[in-house]
Parts: sequence; C-alpha cells; structure tokens
Amino acid sequence: MQRIIAIANHKGGCGKTTTAFNLAGALAEKGTRVLVIDMDAQGALSKGFGVAPPADVSLSDALASDDVDISRVVCHTALDNVDVIPADERLREVELGLAGKFGRELRLRAALREHPQSAYGVILIDCAPSLGFLMGNALVAAGEVLIPVDLGTDSLDAMVETMEHMRFIRKEINYKLRTLGVLINDVKSRTVYGQQAEEFLRSKYERLVFCATIASSVVIPDSKRARTPIVVYQPRSAVADQYRHLADEVIARGEDSYGQT
Ligand SMILES: Nc1ncnc2c1ncn2[C@@H]1O[C@H](COP(=O)(O)OP(=O)(O)OP(=O)(O)O)[C@@H](O)[C@H]1O
Ligand SMILES: [Mg+2]
Repeated sequence: MQRIIAIANHKGGCGKTTTAFNLAGALAEKGTRVLVIDMDAQGALSKGFGVAPPADVSLSDALASDDVDISRVVCHTALDNVDVIPADERLREVELGLAGKFGRELRLRAALREHPQSAYGVILIDCAPSLGFLMGNALVAAGEVLIPVDLGTDSLDAMVETMEHMRFIRKEINYKLRTLGVLINDVKSRTVYGQQAEEFLRSKYERLVFCATIASSVVIPDSKRARTPIVVYQPRSAVADQYRHLADEVIARGEDSYGQT
C-alpha cells in the first residue's frame, strides 16, 4: 500500500528538507520507489536534487486547477528510484488565488487522487516552515507525519504546535492522519542541554521518537552541494548508516500498528 508522509515542523531550519532528501535516498537504496513533493516555494529540495519544473506546467498549476495532471510535473533525478515534483515560485500566489474558496486545503489530496501516483511505494512531502496553506495541504494529503527536531527550545515548542495543528486537521478533515515519528536531527556532540532535551523527549513521547538520530555532520551540507543524498555521496559514512537506520524504522512502522494520534 502506498504511504504519503509529510515532513513537517513549522520551526525553520530544523532539518525538514535535509530529512526528505536523505530519507528518499535511503528508502530508494532499499528498493522503494519514492516520489518527493517540494511544497516549499523556496525550492531548497528541488535545488538539492538539481531539478526545476517543466517549462509548460508546474505544481502551482496542478494545485490551482483540476484539469492539470500532477504527473506532468514529475521530474526524474539521477537516482533510479527517486522522482521529484519541484516547487515553483508561484506556490505563494496559489494561496492568494484560492483565498476564501471552499476546500482550498484539499487541493493536493485531490490532485494526487485524481491522478494517482501508483508507481511509488512512498510519497514524501517536504513542508514549508509555516502552519499556512501549503502545510495544510500537505497534512490533508498525507497519512503520516514525520517531525524533525533539533534540540533547541524553539524547535521543541514548534513541534508541540505542529502536533496541535495536526490534531485540528485530524478532527476536521483527515481523521486518518498519524504521527509517524519524531526525528532528532543535528545532534551536537553531547552537550548537557542536548542530552537533557533528548531524555525529556524520549520520556514524554516514548516510542514515537525514532531510535535513529542524525548527527551534526559536515557531510550533510557537502552532499547537498553535490546534489547527491548521503547514502550515495558517502555510502560508508556514519551519517549514511543513520539514514539507513531511519529508513528501516520508517518501513517497519508502516507494517506495524505504531504511533499515536
Ligand atoms: N544533521 C545536520 N548536520 C549538519 N547540518 C545540518 C544538519 N541538518 C540540517 N543541516 C543544515 O541546516 C540547514 C537547515 O536544514 P534544512 O534546510 O534541512 O532545514 P528545514 O527545516 O528544511 O529549513 P526551512 O524551514 O527553512 O525549510 C541546512 O543548511 C542544512 O544543510
Ligand atoms: Mg526546508
């Protein structure tokens, strides 16, 4: 069964795009066909994969109109098992264009239902750092949410707010939405505050927090510059193994009855 996983936390810079980029690589290495949708007008993920929208059609067009087949926006990447729907600058304008219209949070779900992307085992959606229209569309289209956090206070507060927002969406529109897991990203070498924050998270959210954590590593910006996910860019690095561990947990949690609502 196909899974749609939104990667969301409205705190900027906590690792959403990095997670989408490298988890896609790690899932693909394990034989899963992955489609990544860049729902952030900044387009960092699209740049990471080195893809741009086709000249004649864009994600914005597919969100704005029922007549545009979203599969026309799919771009292939250098990795066999990874395709991308890139962001475009007009994503911000789509929100304005749909202001006040009924069902504006349902646009991505409708686009994916009307033109099913059945070739993919997993669809990852990289969200923008805001609780607005684009994240709303991602959380309505998704079945699961992966929440990356760094261990700063802002990120943890934003995580709680993101979960509250999910509760609202679950109650009003998408009752199947679940938290896939919380990913501790950018783990600095064992500061006291970092350790306490991790202990707090694990005691409060228990098995909702992935066992896998992602260290703070220069390989991460390097691989982004090389436009190559870490499992391919530095396959023997410790961080590559951390992403493989994360991919294993993501796969296992899809087969298990896990998580909380
Ligand atoms: N584990 C890590 N080690 C080192 N650098 C990291 C790590 N995770 C993320 N970064 C770097 O931190 C910056 C922010 O990461 P990223 O773009 O993934 O965050 P984001 O949540 O998508 O941000 P935004 O909210 O702006 O979309 C990037 O430059 C990225 O390369
Ligand atoms: Mg991002």
